[in-house]
Amino acid sequence: MLKVGIDTLSFYTSHYALDLARLAEVRGIDPNKYTIGLGQRNMGVPSPDEDIVTMAANAAQAAIRDIDTQSIEMLLFATESGIDQSKAAGIYVHDLLGLSEQCRVVELKQACYSATVALQLSLSFIRQHPDKKVLLIASDIARYGLNTPGESSQGCGAVAMVLSANPRMVAFDPEYGVVTENVMDFWRPNYADAAFVEGKYSSKLYLNMLEKTWHQYHTRTRRAFEDHDYYCYHMPVPRLVEKAHQHLTKINGSDKLSDHALHAQIGCSLEYGRQIGNSYTASLYVGLVSLFDLTTDDLSNKRIGFYSYGSGCVAEFFSGVVQPGYQKMLNTSQHQKLLAERTALTYPEYETFYSFKYAQDGSLCEIPTYRTGAFRLVAIRDHRRIYEKCT
Ligand code: CAA
Repeated sequence: MLKVGIDTLSFYTSHYALDLARLAEVRGIDPNKYTIGLGQRNMGVPSPDEDIVTMAANAAQAAIRDIDTQSIEMLLFATESGIDQSKAAGIYVHDLLGLSEQCRVVELKQACYSATVALQLSLSFIRQHPDKKVLLIASDIARYGLNTPGESSQGCGAVAMVLSANPRMVAFDPEYGVVTENVMDFWRPNYADAAFVEGKYSSKLYLNMLEKTWHQYHTRTRRAFEDHDYYCYHMPVPRLVEKAHQHLTKINGSDKLSDHALHAQIGCSLEYGRQIGNSYTASLYVGLVSLFDLTTDDLSNKRIGFYSYGSGCVAEFFSGVVQPGYQKMLNTSQHQKLLAERTALTYPEYETFYSFKYAQDGSLCEIPTYRTGAFRLVAIRDHRRIYEKCT
């Protein structure tokens, strides 16, 4: 069977972050609640001149570096932080990157799940058109109300991947387990700029859907828990992922994993998320980037189990095998430089970024210049967003 999957992979996040110890101090909360209780250290905070488009363009620029862009005939943009009800955010990225005119662009939404449906649709497309490639971008800004329980699980990030036949990084297995249920655990009506969330309920659903999707996947593949060397999970907060992995162990009849075994199977995949916070639909794939960048193991021919969860809800369990030679495709130093060089925000600076409002009446809104990557949102004029390439 033709192998299909990830050929190149890159990640981007904002140049600013808030240390959760600072947030804890202002909120009068024990910082251990965030660092131990949730397992989270920092959250990425976008400056007003970064949005899902600029983050996506930065991630994608690196992902297409050695790709013949004429072969990219589809750009799928997965997000739940949409900037327009009609126009796909991916069209701005298509323009900023100078992609071929002969490329369809569309935006997909289903909370944190949409990048996974984009992946599955792309794999089917490539099986049918093995000479074509798909650029899949997941880009999100996780945003909750100030001083709400969700506040500490904000964050931002984008992952871009080129999907192809005979991929150089990960070949996906064709089987999956998938579940949809109409539940109200997290949602954002059109008039709200931050999500409504039933936090505890959402965490329970996350675990229930893991169980359901795993059983379906296991029935279809007969693969056991031990047949997967590593696991990557959608990561709203790292502690929930650790709990989920222990839960998966238990439902497979095994003893609770030791800290060592837990770290070996999921530890590296959690690290970037601890530093950037939730990035909604990008977060599962940020986990994969983190595993690739931080493990000292040779991942060649290792099977990874993936759990995708999008509130509302749709969940899916699937798997893939890392391809020998993947090391040549890593962008580790670029990712680590980006994280290491972020500016730590003070609490008042965080509130200023959080509260920045774009003009909504069509008047010219010039956006102050902050530190960004290669692209920035310059202004909104006549209700049109204007982006520029800055390097
Ligand atoms: N030291 C150490 N641990 C402490 C502590 C301290 N001083 N104080 C509290 N804790 C522990 C608590 O005991 C708790 O641990 P357990 O769950 O193991 O009992 C943990 O810290 C969290 O504390 P709370 O139970 O008080 O939780 P919270 O009210 O802060 O809510 C949350 C946590 C539900 C994740 C909240 O951040 C939230 O609502 N986030 C947004 C929704 C979310 O992320 N849901 C996850 C599933 S939904 C999904 O996956 C989609 C998505 O991306 C949104």
